[in-house]
Amino acid sequence: MNHGVSLTSDELYSRLKNIKVGASVCQYSRKKCDELLPVINEIRQLKAEKNAVILVHSYVSPEIVYGVADFVGDSYKLSRDAIKSTAKTIVFVAVRFMGETAKILNPDKQVIVPAPDAGCTLADSITAEDVRSLRTRFPGHTFVCYVNTSAEVKAECDVCVTSANVYKIVSSLPNNNIYFLPDKFMGQNLVNEMKRRGLQRNISFWNGTCYVHEEYKQEDILKVRLEYPDARIVSHPECNADVIRNSDFVGGTEQMLDYMRTTDARQFLMLTECGLSSRLQSEFPEKQLVGSCTLCRFMKSNSLGNILSALRDPGSAEIIKIEESVRVKALRSLEAMFRYAEAVPAAPGKSCE
Ligand code: 13P
Ligand code: SF4
Repeated sequence: MNHGVSLTSDELYSRLKNIKVGASVCQYSRKKCDELLPVINEIRQLKAEKNAVILVHSYVSPEIVYGVADFVGDSYKLSRDAIKSTAKTIVFVAVRFMGETAKILNPDKQVIVPAPDAGCTLADSITAEDVRSLRTRFPGHTFVCYVNTSAEVKAECDVCVTSANVYKIVSSLPNNNIYFLPDKFMGQNLVNEMKRRGLQRNISFWNGTCYVHEEYKQEDILKVRLEYPDARIVSHPECNADVIRNSDFVGGTEQMLDYMRTTDARQFLMLTECGLSSRLQSEFPEKQLVGSCTLCRFMKSNSLGNILSALRDPGSAEIIKIEESVRVKALRSLEAMFRYAEAVPAAPGKSCE
């Protein structure tokens, strides 16, 4: 996203000034931008000297997204960006499983995560041992894992999916017997969508949840619909089935942004983490955000300070290492995802391709 080495205070302020999401941590005065600028420019200088690239998920704090990121996006796009980049070092500013995914795909690059303890309630809900035991209970099933899983769990599965391609990939699998993990809401949404598409699928799923998305309720939507009848309701597939049924658009975070970019609607309720609402306000100032959003404490544990220190002198916890036998097996799940996601034409649907 940023091409020159240094950013000016005007440039930074113009990217951040429209963001008014929730808490004051996500609001930016001219003075606050002036205070952030020295560390932002130190990071930008250091990454140029070290031939590093900074990949940032949209949920991370806006000063990181608009101050130091080379690439911003969802988990699918960032995996692709990590492969495309020729940099020696990837600084992955998100949660740990996303850094691991970059390492699985780029074994010869150094992958650094500035917040090494940034977990994810979905990824932490299931272990490789759990998958091995499920395999014995569900023989003959294709094991589909959401990307929000550890490298060890991906290594035990057949194909990985992200929120951007889950419906498309499951629609095109040759086996009707599917075990989906770890998100129970996405699993139920998958069952409903396959039925809606008239596809015969016998889908079982694990019982994990995202603690951010599970909080959204159908009542939130009904209230907003009364107050703002023209607002579009845009949801992430980690939300429950009632929320999904009442939404105008459902998709991964990059698809949600594309939807806002391409629709004429002016008002949106975004049922996802606040980072995406911040992107809406920064990049589409003519559009209005209605309702509220929620923070992911894991994504928000990244800071300019821990990025600077990880880039200067990464500790061993910040450098992603994956045992080669695990990496090679996990890579097969990711390669299967790329094959299905990019080769198969999308089936008609309101969301998630
Ligand atoms: P996306 O891939 O849609 O950005 O989702 C990642 C995530 O963690 C959602 O909570
Ligand atoms: Fe995990 Fe939920 Fe945070 Fe996404 S928002 S990283 S699914 S805890």
